[in-house]
Amino acid sequence: MLKIKFLSVFGLLWLFTSAQKCPILPTPAVFQTTNGQFISSGNLLIDPSNITPNLLNAFKNYALWSKGIQVISFVQNPMVKFKKLTNVKQDSYSINIAEQITISYSSEASCFYAWVSLLQLAQQTEGQLSFQKCFVKDYPKFQWRGLHLDVSRHFFTVDEIKRFLDLMAYYKFNTFHWHLTDDQGWRIEIKKYPLLTEVGAWRDSTVENHYTSLPRTYNHSHYGGFYTQEQIKEVVAYAADRFIEVVPEIEMPGHARAALAAYPEFSCTGEAHGVEGLWGVFDDIFCAKEESILFLQDVLTEILPLFPGMYIHVGGDEAPKTRWEGCPKCQAVIKANGLHDAHELQSYFIGRMDAFLTQNGKKLIGWDEILEGGLSPNATVMSWRGYDGGKAAAAENHDVVMCPGSHCYFDHYQGRGAEEPLAIGGFTSLEKVLSFDPIPLDMTTADAAYVLGAQGNLWTEYIPNMAQLEYMAYPRAIALSTTLWSENRPSYEDFFADLSTYHFPFLSSKNVHFSKSCLKPEIKTTRALDWGILIEKAPAKGNNAASTVLAEIKATKRKTKTVQITVDQGPNLPSKKLNVIAHKALGANINFITKPSPKYDNGSLTIVDGQLGARPWKGNEWLGFDSDSVAFDILLEKPIKIKELRIHTLHDPNSWIWAAQTYNISFSKTGVGNGIGDGYSTDEIITIDEINEKTQIIHVVLYGLGRIPTGSPGAGNVPWLFIDEIEVR
Ligand code: ACM
Ligand code: ZN
Repeated sequence: MLKIKFLSVFGLLWLFTSAQKCPILPTPAVFQTTNGQFISSGNLLIDPSNITPNLLNAFKNYALWSKGIQVISFVQNPMVKFKKLTNVKQDSYSINIAEQITISYSSEASCFYAWVSLLQLAQQTEGQLSFQKCFVKDYPKFQWRGLHLDVSRHFFTVDEIKRFLDLMAYYKFNTFHWHLTDDQGWRIEIKKYPLLTEVGAWRDSTVENHYTSLPRTYNHSHYGGFYTQEQIKEVVAYAADRFIEVVPEIEMPGHARAALAAYPEFSCTGEAHGVEGLWGVFDDIFCAKEESILFLQDVLTEILPLFPGMYIHVGGDEAPKTRWEGCPKCQAVIKANGLHDAHELQSYFIGRMDAFLTQNGKKLIGWDEILEGGLSPNATVMSWRGYDGGKAAAAENHDVVMCPGSHCYFDHYQGRGAEEPLAIGGFTSLEKVLSFDPIPLDMTTADAAYVLGAQGNLWTEYIPNMAQLEYMAYPRAIALSTTLWSENRPSYEDFFADLSTYHFPFLSSKNVHFSKSCLKPEIKTTRALDWGILIEKAPAKGNNAASTVLAEIKATKRKTKTVQITVDQGPNLPSKKLNVIAHKALGANINFITKPSPKYDNGSLTIVDGQLGARPWKGNEWLGFDSDSVAFDILLEKPIKIKELRIHTLHDPNSWIWAAQTYNISFSKTGVGNGIGDGYSTDEIITIDEINEKTQIIHVVLYGLGRIPTGSPGAGNVPWLFIDEIEVR
């Protein structure tokens, strides 16, 4: 009874304080201010009696790094005192700032978290430190709060990794998933196999632009790098000082081209290929023969002592079974072990690693493909292809880390429009990240107990340097840490207020090249009342300024023209140019006979808003259909003479998106149409000219190619059809 009362008191406090700005992110469970400030000269005098020398040392370094604050041990008359508590929630802490600052903590990690919160509370003006008098009580919601970094596609130096860790610690992340090997580079010294880094760490070409853009061009610089085992130890120790555990990933059996460039004898064919300079998924993977398994176990034998944490990530994703199907040695392993197919062989392969790691006192973790062919007994699953893998693993009583691409892939775009730097695709806004919950709605409480937490993934195909890494990671990582830490997740508006008031200035002070996309106004297009469109500038979400109308553009009755609008986006942001094609169907109503896929349904106006989708395509600017034929009617205001129709579609076979192959278009004044537009086209823009029909309704049917042909990505599946505009001239 008493316990319930206690909780409800904190609940109430939260209600009272939620509208107030809080300098601490992730948002603490309780933040209650009282009148007045605690002021000190520039330094912090602390009584280290109740903390370990290691912690004191970590505090000194971190205060200096984050805020330039000197920490001095001073037992006689300290500003900050510590108290160690027992029998409290794991990793919980509290801070009381009154005439003195008192930090109560449960674990060493929680003491560090308290310290970070205190540093976030410190305001610095003219050589003085001031703290709003307040009471903070806090604890983490999830135990796995991670960021992943791919150092294979692009390499990051030890100093850059340390800076990445320093920033992670400021937002109470506790897990760094270090993706050390992939097709494009092997990045960790293995003494028994020196060619892994002598050969595997270097490539002679790197694809330029988006890898789906054809024709491809390459930069032929010699590119690469690796970490010596000494450097790995240095990074692991640096992370440990910030209460971050490093989880190394050694990819197998797929994404192995760099390793196989060094040791082709561990592939199925034995053929030598160079380290890969193109992005994607490749057929040449580790052979499942005993020699390859023992080779990888040798590698793990050198990995284990370098990483004192519990988890070793073995990849397991995106391993095509093409080579295994045609390899006598792989087939012999299938036969000898009574397996049915190549999927069970992958399961066998991962199972061998699981047994090896378990024997060595470690836990295996892998991408959700390790479920295919049967999950190994002690495996933890990292669910990236949505939530399903995680749900299946939890249902089998296996631990799960969630990182669905929809919310946790920070290599996706975070802003709209062509002014974002090149990214892999997808759209994951700051708001979407904050809305993320690692526990899907339809998960039972029993299964939810297996969800350890989540992480943000930074794949670096399009992240060539530290500035771009920071741009993609921040501020989205802060939103993620908030969803993972905060029992009382703030609204986007409250989060945005805290972020822009306290954390953008902090990031600027550290010269972090964070993205300001969330500050950009939103350009909204709606249907105008009398046939045409209205373009408005709405303030960025979370900012409560008023909207302004930028333009009203009528559907033209005459010659099509392009209207250019320049949008002022605010201080420190580039102005944006918008080209709108004012054509005859602008703002027209659409009657869909085939419905767009909910995944890419951005509303019917998308295809009559006069605005062409960005390229490379981003999910929010196109209307996407996942059926083989697509039919809809375009309804104009009244019968008018039309001369030409242009259907703008997308052809991007690498993304399984194919232009229409044939079409049937008819034009009618009232209902039944004249079928003048039957034809065949594989161009992205289907043009039908010399129409000269008085038309009010345009019936459009587009036919795809049925199935994606053999040899193309996604072969055998129904291709997507994407449309960005139906331009009527
Ligand atoms: C992945 O994104 N291939 C795990
Ligand atoms: Zn093989």
